[in-house]
Amino acid sequence: MSAPNKSYDPVEVSSLQPDELDQARDEALAAIAAAGSLEALKETRLAHTGDRSPLALANREIGALPPAARAEAGKRIGAARGAVAQALKTRQAELEEERDQRVLVEEAVDVTLPWDRAPRGARHPLTTMQERMADVFLSMGFEIAEGPEIEAEWFNFDALNFKPDHPARTMQDTFFVESEDTGVVLRTHTSPVQARALLSRELPVYVVALGKTFRTDELDATHTPVFHQMEGLAVDEGLTMADLKGAIDAFVTGLFGGHLPVRLRPSYFPFTEPSAEVDMQCFVCRGASIELGAEPCRTCGSEGWIEIGGCGMVNPRVLTAAGVDPERYSGWAFGLGVERTLMFRHGVKDMHDMVEGDIRFTLPFGMEI
Ligand code: DAH
Repeated sequence: MSAPNKSYDPVEVSSLQPDELDQARDEALAAIAAAGSLEALKETRLAHTGDRSPLALANREIGALPPAARAEAGKRIGAARGAVAQALKTRQAELEEERDQRVLVEEAVDVTLPWDRAPRGARHPLTTMQERMADVFLSMGFEIAEGPEIEAEWFNFDALNFKPDHPARTMQDTFFVESEDTGVVLRTHTSPVQARALLSRELPVYVVALGKTFRTDELDATHTPVFHQMEGLAVDEGLTMADLKGAIDAFVTGLFGGHLPVRLRPSYFPFTEPSAEVDMQCFVCRGASIELGAEPCRTCGSEGWIEIGGCGMVNPRVLTAAGVDPERYSGWAFGLGVERTLMFRHGVKDMHDMVEGDIRFTLPFGMEI
């Protein structure tokens, strides 16, 4: 006995009704039109053409139809799926085109820009200047000496014969580490390297020290709390002020060329006796500006001379503090500010330029090493 044919159940295959199919197709088309990006379109494709999409599910129902109705239903589904596939294809192309346009704008390269000029940065002229200064002393047979930037108060002041009540020893001028009674300061000059060099080296000592120094000045056109100094020290038997003068002459010639006259003006420093300020003749006007009616000189302010630093014969107390017998040895010392030298040697008018690190300032000084 054969069983009766399974009858056509319109409820079971309602997804194949024209209305239902139209609705599923229209929803798919609306979602495709609304997809604003390729990612969104991918999700829409999955939702409306994937295995679990209404149209795919309807397609599966065809088998449940009586054979006579299958062709008709198949045509309707095919048309709906075809419309959706076409809409997906069109929208995909539109969105790809949009993306390509966006990439072209966002990743545009200006091919007219120079390609062979990678910015290299620049050496800071303070570095170059310190190397030049050191070179002059090295060529005279001196060695480089170093000391710490965070220095014992004893080296910074006591060993250099600064009395306990010297004004430089207050927080007004000096950066103290933590508090005033720690005995530790940021060195206010490179002179403490004098005592360090004498304590750590065999005599005779011929050294030059360069580096950062610190004072509680506000940054302005002519001051900076962090600056640089150079210090020369010679301690040997029989050194006199003539040796000091000769070394400074050689230094000025080495740094400025042209055998410029140097003069010493009496002054006072606790660590030298006698002490002097060092002037060199102006390397621009060569003293011509002091003559009446001559062109004013911007480098020396028409003084004819430029003050470059301080010097003197090492105070016997300093030698004693550093364990050197002042009866047998004598010495001279010479110190100067590197920023100040850069200012007058290169016409730098504002200290800000030196601390800001803008390569528009540093580049014109060149890359010399
Ligand atoms: N240390 C001094 C200062 O900071 C500069 C100086 C003067 C150094 C005389 C010296 C010197 O070696 O002999 O102002």
